[in-house]
Amino acid sequence: MSNSPEADNSVLEIWGQHPLAGHVSISGAKNSALVVMAGILLCSQPCRLRNIPNLVDVHRMAAVLTALGVKIKQEDDCWELDPSDISHTRAPYEIVSKLRASFFVIGPLLARMGVARIPLPGGCAIGARPVELHVRGLQAMGANVQIEHGTVHACIPGIRKRLQGANIYLDYPSVGATETLMMAATLAEGDTVIDNAAQEPEVADLANFCRAMGARIRGVGTKTLTISGVPSLHSTDYAIVPDRIEAGTFLIAGAITRSKISVSPIVPEQLGAVIAKLQEAGSQIVVESPNRISLIPGDEIQATDIQTLPYPGFPTDMQAQFMALMTLSNGSSMVTETVFENRLRHVAEFSRMGANVRVNGNCAIIQGVPMLSGAPVMATDLRASAALVLAGLGAQGKTVMSGLQHLDRGYEQLERKLTKLGARITRIDGTTGQVAETSEEITASRRSR
Ligand code: EPZ
Repeated sequence: MSNSPEADNSVLEIWGQHPLAGHVSISGAKNSALVVMAGILLCSQPCRLRNIPNLVDVHRMAAVLTALGVKIKQEDDCWELDPSDISHTRAPYEIVSKLRASFFVIGPLLARMGVARIPLPGGCAIGARPVELHVRGLQAMGANVQIEHGTVHACIPGIRKRLQGANIYLDYPSVGATETLMMAATLAEGDTVIDNAAQEPEVADLANFCRAMGARIRGVGTKTLTISGVPSLHSTDYAIVPDRIEAGTFLIAGAITRSKISVSPIVPEQLGAVIAKLQEAGSQIVVESPNRISLIPGDEIQATDIQTLPYPGFPTDMQAQFMALMTLSNGSSMVTETVFENRLRHVAEFSRMGANVRVNGNCAIIQGVPMLSGAPVMATDLRASAALVLAGLGAQGKTVMSGLQHLDRGYEQLERKLTKLGARITRIDGTTGQVAETSEEITASRRSR
């Protein structure tokens, strides 16, 4: 099971029913940082990346790149990555097994080096997560791809060692497959057209990063991407987009505690579906400036149905957090998860807090209750962990959440940012019972593991 970070015995103690207030700064997007870091492999010159969040997953991607021969220097959220001397084309299983996104190196490594050997990422807590769309697309560009002993062996036959442009239709607008194939096509011979491509803002951010290195990509942000291959790419200095999922998580923290809060920097359009559903649920959203919005809570939380879909639909990465809000609504709502087959595991933990939720296949029916009560709960995956923190903020009494290894994969300084807004939330070391290191100290200490 990949994305299975080492268990962490520290817990979060969350005292609910404390109003929040003020502004929270949003970090760079995890799902942009990871793929843009992999994209560095396309270039043979040093590049600088900015606004990179301090997350366990980011440090794991750095470990994969270092194992391939990339030299890395980091100062706060600014990273210098030098891929000029790639020495290996096989990514080590022990690192890949902890980070599914490390599979994203297959496209750039193959396109640049003509060969790539990447362990299959395998399934994770939220689903089987197959990669056949990535593989089929690379084969369409002329690569020879074999899966043996749990590793994907990809190589470009012939002496020219360049992929060939191709017309590729994706059966599903997979974010990862679109990113893998778009990166591979930047160095291919001729044009590649990816139809039914993913339109997520992180895909567009990757495209803009590749274009900043000299790639020729048209149709960014649309369902059809056209990439005209070039012989090589050059150095760049690129800042990634803010994390729309982190911003959405904080907006729900405001709604569930009936608090007015503001978040920035963000790109409001990237949160279109989330904002629409928060308004339907009774909150007011004010766009204060091009990169800053505030949430003003309503008197009641209105029961609201959501269905997760590829962008610009409602993001699956916000489903658990929105469900937390619906547990306290004034009626019955339905949450339908259409993107991942096993992403309702947080329901059992909500029920421990007194929520009234029934699951039928990929649907959850939530009957709102007047009050949740704090309880010991276990996080099962990244977004479920954030949702349990939100439920804890809205609950009466103390919630004790374990499974923090999931949270630290994708949220930078969550408890510190919430404390700054007025939340009562503390990380406690599971062994000593003392106040534990903060999330970023933990990230730093995990870097070496
Ligand atoms: C990215 O995962 C994100 N991860 C996920 O965020 C996010 O939930 C997902 O996109 C959807 O928005 C990163 O960017 C690192 P997909 P990815 O390929 O690329 C199926 C988080 O919480 N599929 O769009 O793996 C797949 O099984 C994480 O930050 C195939 O069947 O998502 C899934 O059901 C979780 N075959 C669906 O498509 C394939 O070859 C969507 O997957 C590829 C995907």
